[in-house]
Amino acid sequence: MSESRKTPDMFDLSGQVAVVTGSTKGIGKAIAARMAQHGAKVVVSSRKADVVEAVTAEINRDFAANGGEAIGVPANIGRRPECEALVAAAMDKWGQIDTFVANAAINPYYGPLHEIPEEAFAKIMSTNVQSPIWFSGLVCPQMAARGGGNFIVISSIGGAYGDPKIGAYCLSKAADMQLVRNMTVEWGSANIRANCVAPALVKTDFARALWENPVRHETALMTYPLKRLGDPDDIAGIAVMLASRAGQWICGQTLIVDGGMMAGAGRFE
Ligand SMILES: NC(=O)c1ccc[n+]([C@@H]2O[C@H](COP(=O)([O-])OP(=O)(O)OC[C@H]3O[C@@H](n4cnc5c(N)ncnc54)[C@H](OP(=O)(O)O)[C@@H]3O)[C@@H](O)[C@H]2O)c1
Repeated sequence: MSESRKTPDMFDLSGQVAVVTGSTKGIGKAIAARMAQHGAKVVVSSRKADVVEAVTAEINRDFAANGGEAIGVPANIGRRPECEALVAAAMDKWGQIDTFVANAAINPYYGPLHEIPEEAFAKIMSTNVQSPIWFSGLVCPQMAARGGGNFIVISSIGGAYGDPKIGAYCLSKAADMQLVRNMTVEWGSANIRANCVAPALVKTDFARALWENPVRHETALMTYPLKRLGDPDDIAGIAVMLASRAGQWICGQTLIVDGGMMAGAGRFE
């Protein structure tokens, strides 16, 4: 408390480098943008090069005055060589990665879990679980060598429930929660903090089929005590907090961000 007159900003990310997968729209874009707004250098990424370029330009335009800066690197996170190239591009440009956000995920199958084609199951697990494990191996050693870092996985409240239609996706999101616990015992002593953020329904393209259907939308709202669905910024603020001084003693956790839904155990009102 002796620091004084000027209040230090607990959420300042100046000097930090963050890589965010799937950051051209939705939750990932909000995370990359808010991190840049808080002074971070960010790597924007997704599978489409032209969109990556456009979002990178947007962030550079909007947040340069705050010290934010962006580069764009297209990558499909389901392919290991592209994951390696993404990390290498960040290291080549800035020589460090302080925060890695494993945000991109897929959900290509709707139906009973026991009927899922093996290929679809393998794709979900390799993109949503294997890929964050690859990234942990690619970024944690340099974080450890530099005194620590921050690894965030965007999971889902689906990882805490059974679901008759998206069981494999939910299984992968539950695995993400266990992944950060495991990373904590493997990397915590190197001051690497691994955490999941688990949102409920957020208004993005990913969940459009759920919130654009008026009946499903209404049904969802009845179970959310705050009486609104999530906005990408509701998740971005948590990621900024985890990466900043404010989040430095949070480790191995899953932070549920759900408008109060789980507190009411899905009770209808
Ligand atoms: N929205 C929700 O209600 C909700 C709730 C709970 C959890 N989540 C989780 O939040 C995360 C982000 O979802 P969102 O709702 O923000 O989705 P979104 O708006 O559809 O955005 C997904 C982003 O990921 C990219 N992407 C998709 N597949 C990719 C791949 N294989 N490799 C690299 N990038 C890829 C997309 O760009 P390209 O298509 O150009 O590659 C896009 O930038 C996911 O992990 C999701 O499971 C979402």
